[in-house]
Amino acid sequence: MLSQEDNDFFCRVGPTTPGGQLLRRYWHVVGATAELTDAKPKKRVRVLGEDLLLYKDRSGGYGLVAEKCSHRGVSLYYGFVEKDGIRCPYHGWKYDACGRCVDQPFESPEAGFKAKIQHPAYPVENLAGVLFAYLGPLEKKPLLPKWDLLVRDDGKKQIDICETLRCNWLQAMENSVDPTHTYYLHSHTLKLKGDPDFVPYHYRMLNKFDFEFVNYPTWAGIQKQRIFEGDDAPPETPHPLIFPNILFVPVRMGYAMHFRTPIDDTSTQVYQFRFSPSKDGSLVAQPENTPIEFVGTTDEAGEFHMDNFTSQDHMAWETQGPLADRSREHLGEGDRGVLMYRKILREQIQAVQNGTDPIGINFDSSKDEVIKLIHEDGYDAFSFAAARAG
Ligand code: FES
Ligand SMILES: [Fe+2]
Repeated sequence: MLSQEDNDFFCRVGPTTPGGQLLRRYWHVVGATAELTDAKPKKRVRVLGEDLLLYKDRSGGYGLVAEKCSHRGVSLYYGFVEKDGIRCPYHGWKYDACGRCVDQPFESPEAGFKAKIQHPAYPVENLAGVLFAYLGPLEKKPLLPKWDLLVRDDGKKQIDICETLRCNWLQAMENSVDPTHTYYLHSHTLKLKGDPDFVPYHYRMLNKFDFEFVNYPTWAGIQKQRIFEGDDAPPETPHPLIFPNILFVPVRMGYAMHFRTPIDDTSTQVYQFRFSPSKDGSLVAQPENTPIEFVGTTDEAGEFHMDNFTSQDHMAWETQGPLADRSREHLGEGDRGVLMYRKILREQIQAVQNGTDPIGINFDSSKDEVIKLIHEDGYDAFSFAAARAG
């Protein structure tokens, strides 16, 4: 159970909030390169409570700037993308990706007015077709982590863009340290629907589950381990929650990273990056833009269709409320992962408040190696189910 004050401390994401200041110390997914075409090189994005414009300029660079022009507030979404920036549709002020005002057509150059304008702008990096942005203080910008799923070229990649989640980001993250939900929410639901995909978590009951806090030079989080009843399978390969807002998870035919980007206090955009390694380890030619797919979670009536894991999870997260009231919850033994995560979150928010760096960020290029999350020799529920099915 949490007080309202603590709940706000953990959940609020705006620029002046303690939680928002912690989240701003990490890179967040804001889109996919495949979403920005020559015909439509602009996309509005709301991230951590800020209204921004993501664009691809005519020389192929990416920019993320405040949507409203610094002159008189017109939307740059209707602006003109040029070789070196974006030009406002109203009076033609032009901004580069660093937020410098590089042109003011109707101001006299001698006045030096444009040098006084700093338009809000944030760094963007492209890794495997995923666009990551950093919204924190520039002098604290960490290196973008090199996740193996994104960096490896011996397999197929895909980015699933999920239907917008209409609740606070923490509800999704608490689910990532909640192993007991898989039985009813996923397997039982699918079994009742007659879907053969129900098997992964339905063969056996969970016997035991453990959590371990891990803190490496390039990432930190909680390693989970589930042990199922019966003795014909080894313990599962770890599938960590990566602090603060990523889940790594084995899926059918491969692996996925789920990036949960807070839009604002009561909505979240989930991007699922999928990687399916080739069977023989051969390299796969990668398209210029990693393909994207939209994953719907609701039907025409606006209800959760519950036909896949994503819809089931979104149902569980959203129906807790736009921002779950944790003063009314009753946590049990099965929720100890949730408690562990909240403890880490509290400590890290306080670390930033106290002027120290939070866990899981790296500034040292000598340590900037590929981060290995995939352990192909590991056992997971999907491969076990597939082997059992023969
Ligand atoms: S409002 Fe953008 S240039 Fe005037
Ligand atoms: Fe789930």
